[in-house]
Amino acid sequence: MKRAVARHLLYPGSFDPPTLGHLDLIRRGHALFPSLTVAVLRNGGKNPLFSVEERVGLLRGMTRGMRGVDVASFDGLLVDYLKRFRAPVVLRGLRVVSDFEYEFQMALMNRKLDPDFEVLYLMPDERFSYLSSSLVREVARLGGSVSRFVPAEVARRVHEALRPRGAGAKRVAGKAPV
Ligand code: PNS
Repeated sequence: MKRAVARHLLYPGSFDPPTLGHLDLIRRGHALFPSLTVAVLRNGGKNPLFSVEERVGLLRGMTRGMRGVDVASFDGLLVDYLKRFRAPVVLRGLRVVSDFEYEFQMALMNRKLDPDFEVLYLMPDERFSYLSSSLVREVARLGGSVSRFVPAEVARRVHEALRPRGAGAKRVAGKAPV
């Protein structure tokens, strides 16, 4: 096993949209590591609410003023992307026990792909333990307010993205409804 001083924390995810739980985790990770990259997955799920560029922009807004934090995007395997960084450690959040199974499987697969893969799990504040991007999308799509779950600018953009503009309006991520 390669031994090196871990210098860089990398927080990968879909962030569609980024929530207050994500922001809490970024703050916690940044308190432990001086440099942190939030990395938005490019080849993620179908029908995203926001394009990758929009998510990167929202995350940049949320982390403005946090020295040592930057936001990027990646595609392909996480272990390949990690090779760009010196002694990287991946940050993931564990909210509830049910997160563990998925995270455990993913970490073991990543370690099979690269034995040097290291991951750090942090718990967000309990106020956010129920919070997920998919629930935020669902609440917003069904007409509920998401202002308690995401930063103000993200809430504004979520509601704007889902605002119907004419019958049959259908929004494609990154584009106005047609
Ligand atoms: O926010 P998410 O959707 O839970 O994040 C999942 C993410 C982006 C961390 C995971 O899907 C990922 O790392 N994808 C990259 C593809 C990859 O490396 N897959 C094989 C390892 S499981």
